[in-house]
Amino acid sequence: RRIAIFASGSGSNAEKIAEHLTNSTDVEITLILSNSPKAGVIDRARRLHIPVLLFDRTTFYESSRVIRLLQEQQIDLIVLAGFMWLMPSELVQAFPNRIINIHPALLPKFGGKGMYGHFVHEAVVAAGETESGITIHYVNERYDEGQVIFQARCPVTPTDSPEDVARNVQKLEHEHYPRVIADLVAAL
Ligand code: GRF
Repeated sequence: RRIAIFASGSGSNAEKIAEHLTNSTDVEITLILSNSPKAGVIDRARRLHIPVLLFDRTTFYESSRVIRLLQEQQIDLIVLAGFMWLMPSELVQAFPNRIINIHPALLPKFGGKGMYGHFVHEAVVAAGETESGITIHYVNERYDEGQVIFQARCPVTPTDSPEDVARNVQKLEHEHYPRVIADLVAAL
């Protein structure tokens, strides 16, 4: 089975997924795609010997070239790992139930456009939540609204800063995303 990872940021999730799949014989990360030439994920991909494809907003939303490339590469699952753009509907339709994302909060709370990265943890702390966590879900045309696949929780104490929450949530991401992906691909 062949996976493509979309990432815009540091790529720590992409790296954990790659590490988890290193020993797998029937799943490979064929490609990492990014929309940011400065993204840390590019260096990680180079170190992991995974090809990287960079595209700009125009190319991405024209989408036919990206779709054709993914189909030519026979990609079975598209994994969003810190990818900040909304999936074009043509891409979602070309890969029904084959695109997943990880959101650093317990959807449906703290989801939607603008609720990403550090903003989410600030909002969770500001709301006085007693827990946060991760949501792994299928991707559809609307931000963070696809069917939930998996959630994991961590406590939020009154003294926790957004940085504390971010650290605890990222630990959950690294602990669970690789396994959830491996299990999902095995069931394809
Ligand atoms: C993570 O917080 C993830 O939940 C969110 O974007 C961040 C990606 O981090 N979607 P990294 O680039 O994998 O380190």
